[in-house]
Amino acid sequence: MSSKRVLLIVGGGIAAYKACELIRLLRKRGHTVRCVLTAGGAHFITPMTLAALSEQPVHTSLWELKDEVEMGHIELSRQADLVVVCPATADLLAKMAAGIADDLATTLLLATDKPVLAVPAMNVRMWLHAATRRNVATLREDGIMVMAPDEGPMACGEFGPGRLPEPEAIVAAVEAALSVPPSPYVLGEVEGRDAGTAPGTRTPTSPSANCILVGRHILVTAGPTHEPIDPVRYIANRSSGKQGFAIAEALAALGASVTLVAGPVALATPAGVTRIDVETARDMAAAVDAALPADAAIMVAAVADWRAEASGLKIKKSGEPPALALVENPDILATLSHSPRRPRLVVGFAAETNDLVAHAQAKLARKGCDWIVANDVSGPKEQSVMGGPDNAVHLVTADGVEDWPRMPKAEVAQRIAARIAEALR
Ligand code: C5P
Repeated sequence: MSSKRVLLIVGGGIAAYKACELIRLLRKRGHTVRCVLTAGGAHFITPMTLAALSEQPVHTSLWELKDEVEMGHIELSRQADLVVVCPATADLLAKMAAGIADDLATTLLLATDKPVLAVPAMNVRMWLHAATRRNVATLREDGIMVMAPDEGPMACGEFGPGRLPEPEAIVAAVEAALSVPPSPYVLGEVEGRDAGTAPGTRTPTSPSANCILVGRHILVTAGPTHEPIDPVRYIANRSSGKQGFAIAEALAALGASVTLVAGPVALATPAGVTRIDVETARDMAAAVDAALPADAAIMVAAVADWRAEASGLKIKKSGEPPALALVENPDILATLSHSPRRPRLVVGFAAETNDLVAHAQAKLARKGCDWIVANDVSGPKEQSVMGGPDNAVHLVTADGVEDWPRMPKAEVAQRIAARIAEALR
């Protein structure tokens, strides 16, 4: 990619030190980085560190007279190709969502006409708090790209989502955001803003609505399905829904309007995502159909292949085990891939215990989808991909097979989302 100018706003969190690595990586890729350090950020790293790493002046105050003469804050916000907020603290996200401009960083963010990428890092409770979720949803609706944080152990000793994504993943998001031509939405050509928008499309209001997936409607299925045997029993599988939810979140973070059709899972709805809860494969098929049209469909759900002829009454023990008559469920992915309303990009998942890639290639042809993301679900339950935080996948397409290293599910999701954005460009 050609050299771009990044304005990096460093917020006040312990993850601020990782901004130093981000500067180094961005410069290594040929980009120019200019930094703004908030008062909070200055408690964690110094302007000197950022100046030395970026080899550019560092801006800290709205009231630096010299800067106002040489470069006004409006100018500073507009000279960049992309504004990156890293780490974006809960406080900074709240101010951005509310349009508060009470220091240099927030004033720049309100004044910019450039795309903005926020990279959150905070305590897990703060990230999951209703106020933060509301703020993130608002920002995404406004066209700000808000990356999903990683899940894992935190500096405060707790565990969960809220960790700053790895600098390499941030660089990938930065470059994905930089590689997109200006969206027609930014130029005010929002068809149907008055005439009524198509379902799933979005009409961003911010001038920085240059998110790479803004205006795209993406359908994601996630989790298991439960197939009733009788009113109290069901057939299920071990899918946790984590990977599908992470993909929905990563797509929303890139500005997509996401419909997440979720089987029964105990996971919070990612900010800015429309969730439809279902129980059975047939419910899921109906919800997918109702959510069309979509630009892309990512079918991550572990749909039960069979359902039982359910009994209306609880089956009683009779000394003999009851015979379960199984009926095949609709194949949602194959049906969608061959449907006249097929989204432009259809992605399936394959969970296999052996001959992973060969099975995935056969599945690609059989299902008629564009890509299969294959993962190995063999191994003991405690190390299994199913329910675990990490995943090692192979991306199987008509062009070949890519083997991705083992990484957190949030990172797999970000990479998949970036590839989807590329494919839909
Ligand atoms: O055939 P298999 O279950 O291995 O295929 C997995 C892929 O197909 C996943 O993407 C899954 O979401 C999808 N699928 C589906 N409907 C089914 C079975 C699987 O959409 N009934």
